[in-house]
Amino acid sequence: RAAPLIDPFARPISYLRVSVTDRCDFRCTYCMAENMTFLPKAELLTLEELDRLCSAFVRLGVEKLRITGGEPLVRKGIMTFFRAMSRHLESGALRELTLTTNGSQLAKYAGELAECGVRRINVSLDTLDMAKFSAITRWGRLGQVLDGIAAAKAAGLRVKINAVALKGFNEEEQFSLTEWCAAEGHDLTWIEVMPMGDLGGEDRLGQYWSLKDVRARYGERFTVTDLAERTGGPARYVRLEETGQKVGFITPLTHNFCESCNRVRLTCTGELYMCLGQEDMADLRAPLRASAEDGLVEEAIRAAIARKPKGHDFDYSRQTVSGQVSRHMSHTGG
Ligand code: GTP
Ligand code: 5AD
Ligand code: SF4
Repeated sequence: RAAPLIDPFARPISYLRVSVTDRCDFRCTYCMAENMTFLPKAELLTLEELDRLCSAFVRLGVEKLRITGGEPLVRKGIMTFFRAMSRHLESGALRELTLTTNGSQLAKYAGELAECGVRRINVSLDTLDMAKFSAITRWGRLGQVLDGIAAAKAAGLRVKINAVALKGFNEEEQFSLTEWCAAEGHDLTWIEVMPMGDLGGEDRLGQYWSLKDVRARYGERFTVTDLAERTGGPARYVRLEETGQKVGFITPLTHNFCESCNRVRLTCTGELYMCLGQEDMADLRAPLRASAEDGLVEEAIRAAIARKPKGHDFDYSRQTVSGQVSRHMSHTGG
C-alpha cells in the first residue's frame, strides 16, 4: 500500500463520501430549490470512472466509502457500481461500504445492497407525519420510504435514521420519532440545519433548532447517559436508559467537530471538496481523463489533501447567518 493520506493538521483521511448523482426524486426544502437545474448527463463521471477514482482512494488508505447524492439510488446502473466496490471489501482494503439515502428506492434495492456487503445504511427521515413529510420533501410519499426502511431491515441491514432538527417543524415529534426508532430497532441521529445553498426565502436562522435543546428535552423524560464511543463520524452519542437506545447528535453549529475530521467528498463530476463547509475544491476529472495510468490522479489527490482547511465557518450565534456556502447540500451529498 501507498503512504496514507495525512492532511496539514495531522488528520488521517480514511473516509471518502462519493456523490454519484446530483439528482433526487425529492426536493427537501433545506437541501434543494424547488426548480433545481440538474447537470446534463454528459457531465457525469461514468461508473467506470467513479470506480477508478474510488479505487485510487482505497489504494491511498481510504477504508470507508459512503455513497451519497442527490439520491444515490436514482443513478442508473448504480448496483453495478456497488458490486464493483464490493471487491475492495472482499480484499480487506475497505472496512465499510455504505450509503446515505432518502429511502424511496430501498424496497427495490435493499436485498442487492446486502449482497454487495453493505451492512448499515443511513436513511434521511425528518417526520412520521404524512402531510409534513410531503411538505418538507415537496412531494415525497412517506409510505414508500417506510416500505423501503422495512425492506432494508428485512434484508438484514442496520438502519440509522437521520433527522434534521427544524424549529416549528419536527419539534413536537422529538419523542414520537425517538419511540418509533426504539420500537423498530433503528438508531437515530439528529442533525443541526446548516446554511448551505441559497434557497431563496429559506429562513435558516428561524429554522435553526439547537441540539443543546433537543438533548435537554430528552433529559426531562429519560435518563440520558453520555457515551464515549465515536464511530468515526461527527456524531456524539447518548443512551436513553429507559429504552436502551442510542441517539446521536451532529452539531456543526453548537459543537464543532472539525478537529477530528477524517473525510473528503467527491462529486459526480469528479470535484473533490476537502470540507463540507468551504468552497475550495480540486478537479480530479482532468487528471483522470488525461491518462489511463493512475499516477496523475494519485498526485492530484495528494495535492488536494495537502490543502484541506482546518474547518468550516458556519455560525448563527450573532443572530445572523455567517459562513454560508453557496453550493447546495445535494452537490456534495451532505
Ligand atoms: P456515520 O457516522 O458513518 O453513520 O456517518 P455520517 O454521520 O458521517 O454520515 P451521514 O451521511 O449520516 O451524515 C449525516 C449528516 O451529517 C450529513 O449529511 C451532514 O449533514 C452531516 N455531516 C457529515 N459529515 C460532516 C462533516 O464533515 N461536516 C459537517 N459540518 N457535517 C457533516
Ligand atoms: N443541513 C443539515 N443537514 C442537511 N441535509 C441536507 N441538507 C441539510 C442541511 N442544510 C441532510 C439530509 C440527509 C443528509 C444527506 O444531509 O437530511 O440526512
Ligand atoms: Fe433529496 Fe436527500 Fe436532498 Fe432531500 S435531503 S432533496 S432526499 S438529497
